[in-house]
Amino acid sequence: MRVLARACRIGFAITSSFIASAVFASEMPAVDAESAAAAERGEPLYAERCASCHDQPTGRTPHREALLFRNPDAIVRALERGPMRPMAAGLGDADRAAIAAYLTGRLPRPQPVPKPNQCPRTGGLFAPKLPAVAAGDWPDLGRDLANTRFAPNAGIEASNVARLSLAWAYSIPSGAAGPVSVAGDRVYLATGTGDVVALDAKSGCTLWTHATDRLVRSVSVATLSNGRGIVVFGDGRAFVTALDARNGRRLWSTAVDDHALTKVTAAPSVFGDRVYVAMSSIEDPLQHFPDYPCCTSRGSVAALDAKSGKLLWKQFTIRDAPRSAADIEAAGGAPTRPPHQLAAGAEPGPLPAIAPSTDPPARFLPAGGALFSPLTLDAKRGVVYAATGASYDDGYWPDAQSVVAYDMKTGERRWARMFKTPEQVAACRRTEKESDCRNNYDFAAPVVLHALPDGRDVLLAAQKNGEAHGLDPDAGGAILWTARYSKGTDLGGLMYGMAVADGLAFLPISDTSNHFVQPPGLPGGMAALDPADGVIRWKRAAEAPVCAWSDGPCLSGSISAATAVPGVVFHASGDGWLRARRTADGEVLWRFDTGRAFDAVNGVPARGGQLHGWAIAAGGGRLYVVSGASSQGRPGNALLVFEVAAP
Ligand code: HEC
Repeated sequence: MRVLARACRIGFAITSSFIASAVFASEMPAVDAESAAAAERGEPLYAERCASCHDQPTGRTPHREALLFRNPDAIVRALERGPMRPMAAGLGDADRAAIAAYLTGRLPRPQPVPKPNQCPRTGGLFAPKLPAVAAGDWPDLGRDLANTRFAPNAGIEASNVARLSLAWAYSIPSGAAGPVSVAGDRVYLATGTGDVVALDAKSGCTLWTHATDRLVRSVSVATLSNGRGIVVFGDGRAFVTALDARNGRRLWSTAVDDHALTKVTAAPSVFGDRVYVAMSSIEDPLQHFPDYPCCTSRGSVAALDAKSGKLLWKQFTIRDAPRSAADIEAAGGAPTRPPHQLAAGAEPGPLPAIAPSTDPPARFLPAGGALFSPLTLDAKRGVVYAATGASYDDGYWPDAQSVVAYDMKTGERRWARMFKTPEQVAACRRTEKESDCRNNYDFAAPVVLHALPDGRDVLLAAQKNGEAHGLDPDAGGAILWTARYSKGTDLGGLMYGMAVADGLAFLPISDTSNHFVQPPGLPGGMAALDPADGVIRWKRAAEAPVCAWSDGPCLSGSISAATAVPGVVFHASGDGWLRARRTADGEVLWRFDTGRAFDAVNGVPARGGQLHGWAIAAGGGRLYVVSGASSQGRPGNALLVFEVAAP
């Protein structure tokens, strides 16, 4: 029973920082003999392959203690086709299961498989024409090209929000991966099995399923000038794929990067028959891997023809190509700037081998500048804005930790502004114990383009370090104001996104610990800023977290993006609770606990968890909440759909 012993040791080791330690220590994972035997086999594999990062984690790495509460299936999935794929290269099924058993105390168990729940067929030629994406829809992550996450015509507002009631729930096969997009009477989402599905918005029955063998987190829906509706998404291997929205048939699929560790996290944006997509990377963790020749992947932005999938342009965020540190030194430190075009038809390359070595491996730089958030499109200025992540080597490579503007047509870089200074980093190193003082200068959320009442436009950009900025899009992103809205951590400050509505910007506050245990002092809450000057108009503190579960972390912080409708901002937290706040003052008008189990239309119960990612969408008179989409903390598989009940 070494695993049980380990769980108990960990439980006691973290009691000082864990408020609900009494609950924690008594909730040891159940260990059966088979799991215990597998865990014994998993221990040396973990020590050899995983401990170097997960025992002393930095940045986004979940602490081993946080993995203890994972579903073992989720761990196996992360090793098979998730971000931990390179670390598990060469391992067999039994090895992966043994590592999962060592980490969680349990062997993976086959999950209940939901029923297909296919909609009745409404036949071929006579199938109803798909309506164009309309004003009341929620077609992509930001709701609109400016990323306001404000749905002015969704049919939900301050006067009826208190009457929201659960209409149906859906068990997302193999767990929640990300949010829904809504167009007309259809809902589109990606499942934990890598399928993209279309559901009927009224009943939740399944219209079609498109299987990918990739990790897909979010999808967008759009209508092209030829009237064709497309569902478009990027995946864990950096392909962008468009499906016919009517039937899920594949129209095209294009590789947008050739680095093995580059992926697409945020769904693309579609405008003027073009698809704009941002690339991120899973190489970030490998910088702590002593045998890995870190690092060679860079974030990038690409534009594709929406009808054919042809790559029109692509720009890396960090423009200097990575070279070995030795070469850069030999060349007197001068970086190179080759043209950054992926050859047409190129396929992403094989995974780099992580071979144990005794020699120190070559180091490469620059790398990083990944884009985890959707792009922001400015039709008036013909510009695409990207908010970029950290460079992997701790340097100050332009355009990492920056807001960068690219010409929509050509991809030419118009301007960039960096938000990290040596002085800030030095101050961070003096005061911050948990942060590596690198990740917290990231932008995890997109910028929002907002029209002020006086006719000027402002770009709203908030970093994970707890600072928000107003930038002038007509003056090269000149800083108009900077406001501190929270303490900030490597997990935000602002993580997935603000909402801008009723003349205010609403920032959910994460301030969540890297270790994913609830720190003292109830981090979280929400701040409402004036977009004109950054003045905080109101701030609401987090409430003590109340979790429907007792076998996982119970957090007060708000990692999920905010969502707004007229007079109301939806605010989600790590304990699975969803609140509807009045935009004027933050007063709670309605609340709902999504962390429970719900009867679902497709047979097996839907189980909620923490609210994470871009959890909430509002469209067509309904509120859609995905509970348990999570790479850390408490996973779940619930899509909950609310409608306004009659008064
Ligand atoms: C080089 C450092 C490193 C090593 C080695 C490593 N990990 Fe990770 N791991 C990370 C980081 C960083 C993340 C967060 C990735 C992200 O958010 O994209 C992560 C995430 C995870 C996750 C969550 C993934 C998800 O999809 O939510 C699991 C599970 C995990 N690691 C398990 C393992 C196991 C098991 C091993 C050993 C086989 C391992 N890791 C080896 C750094 C590492």
